Amino acid sequence: MSEYQESSELRLRPVRSFVRREGRITTSQAAALRDLWPVYALPESGPIVPAACFGRRAPLHLEIGAGDGECMLALAEAHHEFDFIAAEVHRPGLGHLLNRLDKRGLSNVRVYGGDVNDLLARLPDGSLSGVYVFFPDPWPKTRHHKRRLVQAPFLARLRPKLLPQGRLYVATDIEGYAEHVIEVTAPLRDWLNLAGAARYAPRLKARIVTKFERKGLRENRRIFDFCLARAPDPAPRQTASSSER
Ligand SMILES: C[S@@+](CC[C@H](N)C(=O)[O-])C[C@H]1O[C@@H](n2cnc3c(N)ncnc32)[C@H](O)[C@@H]1O
Repeated sequence: MSEYQESSELRLRPVRSFVRREGRITTSQAAALRDLWPVYALPESGPIVPAACFGRRAPLHLEIGAGDGECMLALAEAHHEFDFIAAEVHRPGLGHLLNRLDKRGLSNVRVYGGDVNDLLARLPDGSLSGVYVFFPDPWPKTRHHKRRLVQAPFLARLRPKLLPQGRLYVATDIEGYAEHVIEVTAPLRDWLNLAGAARYAPRLKARIVTKFERKGLRENRRIFDFCLARAPDPAPRQTASSSER
């Protein structure tokens, strides 16, 4: 099966890169989802207008699969001059993040509780300065590799949303996922791996150690970082009539 589900009602929907498991939700997470959601959530439908959502114009960054928001909080605290969207499907994680945002009085983060593919469709082109995918679900079984988030169709959806100088940062502790990122991106002419032949980028300074990285390190795994950029758009082909002008 391709990256797209083939059942009729889901035709053209990307395969889910996540499992929707509610897990245990604490009383304070449930309260945050009820009381703080209206404060921090992006609008439920329609095109997203970042300046209206944040009440200002600032470089916009997106973390995909923010988990319980550990890294998002660190990024937002370190960069008050940027705005951030935390996209996550796991509701307890979102509840945890909402409580921390409220406690720390951060106003430069909005949350999106759903599949990031749906969010991308609602974001304006050229709106994102940075996109972060830290420790994506590894989907280790070969038959599940198609469920990995980083895929050519996903990159094709993401690319127009990035500014020309925008960056996509990916980090993983799973060697097979790192190889997968290389396999997927190497043939793409419209993406550049900024590490060139070295393939792996230096660790992004702002990326703090989250529980997923701690687990990888405890189990003696190497951490792989990528920094990808959208390649410049090709110059429009000259037609005979345009070159005569
Ligand atoms: C292994 S966790 C990593 C969490 C966090 N980045 C960290 O390093 O602590 C991956 C997260 O990505 C989320 N995720 C996967 N696919 C997603 C998608 N299409 N849209 C939004 N979130 C997604 C999952 O729900 C999961 O919480």
